[in-house]
Amino acid sequence: MPKDINLLVTRQFPGDVLDRCERDYSCTFNPDDADWNGEGLLSRADGHDAILLSSNSKFTAQVIAELPDSIKILATFSVGYEHIDVGAANNKGLVVTNTPGVLSEATADIAFMLLLCASRRAFEADRMVRTGQWTGWTPTQLCGPGMQGKRLAILGMGGIGRQVAQRGRAFGMTIHYHNRSRLPADLEQGAVYHETADELMKVADFLSINCPMSDEMVHFLNEDRITLMPDGAIVVNSARGGLVEDAALIAALKSGKLFAAGLDVFEGEPKVNPAYWELDNVFMAPHIGSATVETRNAMGFTALDNLDAFFAGEDPPNRLV
Ligand code: DGY
Repeated sequence: MPKDINLLVTRQFPGDVLDRCERDYSCTFNPDDADWNGEGLLSRADGHDAILLSSNSKFTAQVIAELPDSIKILATFSVGYEHIDVGAANNKGLVVTNTPGVLSEATADIAFMLLLCASRRAFEADRMVRTGQWTGWTPTQLCGPGMQGKRLAILGMGGIGRQVAQRGRAFGMTIHYHNRSRLPADLEQGAVYHETADELMKVADFLSINCPMSDEMVHFLNEDRITLMPDGAIVVNSARGGLVEDAALIAALKSGKLFAAGLDVFEGEPKVNPAYWELDNVFMAPHIGSATVETRNAMGFTALDNLDAFFAGEDPPNRLV
């Protein structure tokens, strides 16, 4: 790869990823790992050919319009790409790529961590031991619903959803799903397809949200959909915070309509609706779905594979249109 290609590296990515950036490109790094957005991005973009970015950086239509013409490609270190106006980028002649596939297992692991922690009351359990409030074993202490034999409803049966399904089968759950289109039998593996998301809600003893964010999906999980769910259901979200209407989820967790929730993502994160802090029946994590050493390296290498292909005159493997 010729070193005369100028790459703006917007975050402090894992060391092996930064080493490969430095080996193959002429880079501007962000050693302080500051959150560059808007003017922070635009003021640094001049003189670069490409940007390696994370989902923190918002490439709105306005930002894209103001990018210098030298920028030819935006490679995001993420599978989600709702932070980039892909249409605006394509209209400007910019190529956009993401990193699908490599984070499916790690994210499904976190979805399952959330399912287990929410249903088995991990927050209360940890707090009881940690604060010295545990006075001994009792027959009914911190009981929650088991998973065996329950219906696991998966919204979005892409790579991550299918890995969640695989874990659900290992836990003895029956798998139900809704997806834009039904999967072929070899991928469905006996999972029950529901034509509509509302039908899926009716069987969701446990709901795992694994679909991409889009304008149509904003606040998908609202009061009406929660009402459709079985009483005492569990909800987990490891996709994007905006898929859930916080006020509706909080009300259902307070009323007991839902037994518990597990959340790895939040609308407007890193801000979190403070009402969640008061609830013992919500288990929270700070967007760590893909946070394994191996996965974060793989995301970086996939993003760089996309850049390498583009600058070699090939079609990048994960091009978004
Ligand atoms: C992704 O890859 O979309 C993760 O959520 C990190 O942004």
